[in-house]
Amino acid sequence: MPRKALRIGMIGYGFMGRAHSNAYRKVNNFFDLEYVPVLQAVCGRNAEKTRAFAETWGYASTERDWKKLIARDDIDAVDICVPNDLHMEIAIAAARAGKAILCEKPLARTTKEGEAMVKAVEKAKVPNTVWYNYRRVPAVSLIQQVVAKGTLGKIFHYRANFLQDWTINPDVPQGGAGTWRLDVDAAGSGVTGDLLAHCVDTALWINGSISSLTAMTETFVKKRKHADTGKVQEVGIDDAAGVLCRFGNGSLGMFESTRYARGHKALYTLEINGEHGSLAWNLHDLNYVQFFDHKTEGRMRGWTSILVTDGEHPYLGRWWVPGLSIGYEHSFIHQLADFLEGLSTGKPAAPTFRDALETTRVCDAIIKSGKSQKWVTL
Ligand SMILES: NC(=O)c1ccc[n+]([C@@H]2O[C@H](COP(=O)([O-])OP(=O)(O)OC[C@H]3O[C@@H](n4cnc5c(N)ncnc54)[C@H](O)[C@@H]3O)[C@@H](O)[C@H]2O)c1
Repeated sequence: MPRKALRIGMIGYGFMGRAHSNAYRKVNNFFDLEYVPVLQAVCGRNAEKTRAFAETWGYASTERDWKKLIARDDIDAVDICVPNDLHMEIAIAAARAGKAILCEKPLARTTKEGEAMVKAVEKAKVPNTVWYNYRRVPAVSLIQQVVAKGTLGKIFHYRANFLQDWTINPDVPQGGAGTWRLDVDAAGSGVTGDLLAHCVDTALWINGSISSLTAMTETFVKKRKHADTGKVQEVGIDDAAGVLCRFGNGSLGMFESTRYARGHKALYTLEINGEHGSLAWNLHDLNYVQFFDHKTEGRMRGWTSILVTDGEHPYLGRWWVPGLSIGYEHSFIHQLADFLEGLSTGKPAAPTFRDALETTRVCDAIIKSGKSQKWVTL
């Protein structure tokens, strides 16, 4: 197949910068694609660290100002791997410059920002995606396919949790490198936009739209020192959120997210219950789907643990042999492969900015309901 280069300009080289760079380097080794990402430039504010990152991952050049990176005509696609307060400004500038855009989640801090981003990419007609990578864990993709096939029949419940424990210590600062997630100005919200957004994105994909919700949110540590100013300031983020919702298909949803669940580092779990069966998954056992099939003969009926590593499972035909597992980083490779395939077919891979805006809308409604203690209709 004749190959086309997609010259990447990546902004930010932290956690996601590494996850994405790994995907750019591997994707063509495992997927037959027309497009080949070329690591053209990485942008960071610290020249030395940016150069070191470029050397480690093989980026051809570095920039210190994202505006300069976007202005370059040897960049085809901009990858936004910076804190949430920069997503809108960078995405709109990149769209205006005619670049394809891969943006980290959440799309934006607010629905208003997200709407402006959707408008910009749709006006400029540039390919776009948001890195809600958990859709591309093969076991999660399998659950989506089984539910879409109607195997579970009428759906009654969808529940998901995302639990962590890293902010219990009140001495953890807000703002600054590594702790920008605790600063509401940088992050937009706390666990809702950071963790629950993943649960909401997957839920919307598997179980359809959410029509109304009510939430309780809490900020357990009310004041923290700001890493940039050194001042002790009010904390504006939600530390924990619990959500009850109704889906458009008549089912009920329950979501929980917190950074105060002592002992949990990144436990994302989901379960869906239907008339004929149930499916469940958790991130700590990411290659397994749990399935209860009520159609099985009564005395043999029970939860089945399905190891998702066969060639017929989503994406697995591209990897090793049945029985050999893959990991977290592969979800990014899969999303990139789908994005690149979408460039060739002209059928954009979901979630696009427009798809991800729906998740931001739900997250905004959660924050609003948490404050008002009232149901919100979407
Ligand atoms: N898909 C996922 O599962 C997932 C996981 C983690 C983070 N994220 C998202 O990815 C984004 C980045 O998070 P992270 O964990 O990689 O954060 P990080 O703190 O590890 O990295 C952020 C990077 O942005 C850089 N940066 C900040 N301001 C900048 C500026 N003005 N110009 C250039 N670079 C700048 C920082 O120097 C750093 O390199 C966030 O939107 C976050 O929500 C998504």
